[in-house]
Amino acid sequence: MDRKIVIAGNWKMNKSNSDALQLANQIKIKTTGINHTAVIMCPPFTALSVVNEVVKNTSIDLGGQNVFWEKEGAYTGEISAEMLKSAGASYVIIGHSERRQYFGETDETVNKRLLTALDSGLKAIVCVGETLEQRENNETMNVVSRQVKGALGGLTDAQMQDVIVAYEPVWAIGTGKTATPEQAQEVHAAIRNLIADIFNTEMSKKLVLQYGGSVKPENAEELLGQDDIDGALVGGACLKADSFAEIIRIAERLNRA
Ligand code: 13P
Repeated sequence: MDRKIVIAGNWKMNKSNSDALQLANQIKIKTTGINHTAVIMCPPFTALSVVNEVVKNTSIDLGGQNVFWEKEGAYTGEISAEMLKSAGASYVIIGHSERRQYFGETDETVNKRLLTALDSGLKAIVCVGETLEQRENNETMNVVSRQVKGALGGLTDAQMQDVIVAYEPVWAIGTGKTATPEQAQEVHAAIRNLIADIFNTEMSKKLVLQYGGSVKPENAEELLGQDDIDGALVGGACLKADSFAEIIRIAERLNRA
């Protein structure tokens, strides 16, 4: 398999600038010598520049946690792709379930943000995933496939090369409940098939599919060992350098690149 494992840390709304500086420095030190695994750090907007100073001459990439579809203007509280880029970001997370749940994000707005991000030269991590209720009602595949189709509508093949899809079952986020490797693998395989339908088989084979939801050093090996799991989007465990670096070391050992 020629997909490199990609481990991203979503810091969510955590870390002041001084704490961000410390965490980024520790992660950088603890991941020295990692060269087969791609690492992305996604701090809050306020800490992007600070973290960029730490990672700018390393292979660690920087990402934002959201982006607006307009280029500039009277959009209080929003951030543009150019602003993210100027702070050092090359990635952006789009459509995280917390944005969908608390901030009214829909498949349509996810798609608009994604198209703008890609047009501006950012790469994107697009999040999809079902709620517990949807899983219990056997709606997982329907929901995930609607989200994937909605998010990726109108993308060209070239744009799709810059997209990572993260499957994050909502019931596994921040709850300590991880999807079993089999549950995650099943959905990942279905997403890959869907990408083959929407785009083509070659694209589906190249697609990096991350799993997210209570990933920690204790479960990373089993999850990342699944055929269609090519990385992790880590929340809680990325806020401590030891646990994030340990997940990265596990990926490095497993790397199939
Ligand atoms: P946790 O790892 O804290 O469950 O968060 C996962 C997540 O939402 C990453 O985007």
